[in-house]
Amino acid sequence: MTIVIAIDGPAGSGKGTIAKKISSFYNFPHLDSGILYRSVAYLCHKSGEKIFDEKNVLRYAQNLNLDNIDIDKLRTENIDEISSKISSFSSLRESLKTFQLNFKKIHSDKSGIVVDGRDITTVIFPDAEIKFYITASLKDRANRRFEELVLNNSKIDKKLVIKELQKRDQRDMERSTAPLKIAKDAIVIDTSNLTIEEVNSKVQREIEKVIK
Ligand code: CDP
Repeated sequence: MTIVIAIDGPAGSGKGTIAKKISSFYNFPHLDSGILYRSVAYLCHKSGEKIFDEKNVLRYAQNLNLDNIDIDKLRTENIDEISSKISSFSSLRESLKTFQLNFKKIHSDKSGIVVDGRDITTVIFPDAEIKFYITASLKDRANRRFEELVLNNSKIDKKLVIKELQKRDQRDMERSTAPLKIAKDAIVIDTSNLTIEEVNSKVQREIEKVIK
């Protein structure tokens, strides 16, 4: 049996960092579903279109080949914004859902997988054996996102990062299709005042309860 560790949370909550740590500790393959939305956003951006048409966006998703995408180009302010805008298209979500379910199938020889995103605990793997909702204060999340963005753009304005993060939170939480929310059986961890190691040991303790 392949157990699913599903992790959701808002931008900058630290869910990606923890997903990577858990994945390498247990040797469970990891899928960062944000990469899928970001890759499609990147193709939209590259096409030069300013208004995103659902049919075109879906076509990008259906032909998506991650081998052709430069992952380093996906974490920019532009892609942040486009990914969060297009992610309200239900046809796109449906298409990427197939991709995510397939990830579990192709790893059916493994004892577990780790998947993180916005709707993993609620829509993609509602029956996941372990569910986490990782969050943090807006200030802490914006600081973390700023540290990431400043690596590519030294002129970035922190106030703008906070504003954009708030807009993205709002879009992600208020959209009608698969909004970001806390699943009723998710373990909620606020990482605001915790180190990565502290979050890691909390998460591992919960996982041990299930896999022992
Ligand atoms: O890493 P960060 O939390 O900043 O973002 P991400 O996980 O890479 O996701 C980028 C955007 O894709 C989010 O703001 C969402 O709008 C969208 N997304 C989604 O709708 N559903 C997912 N499962 C993952 C990402």
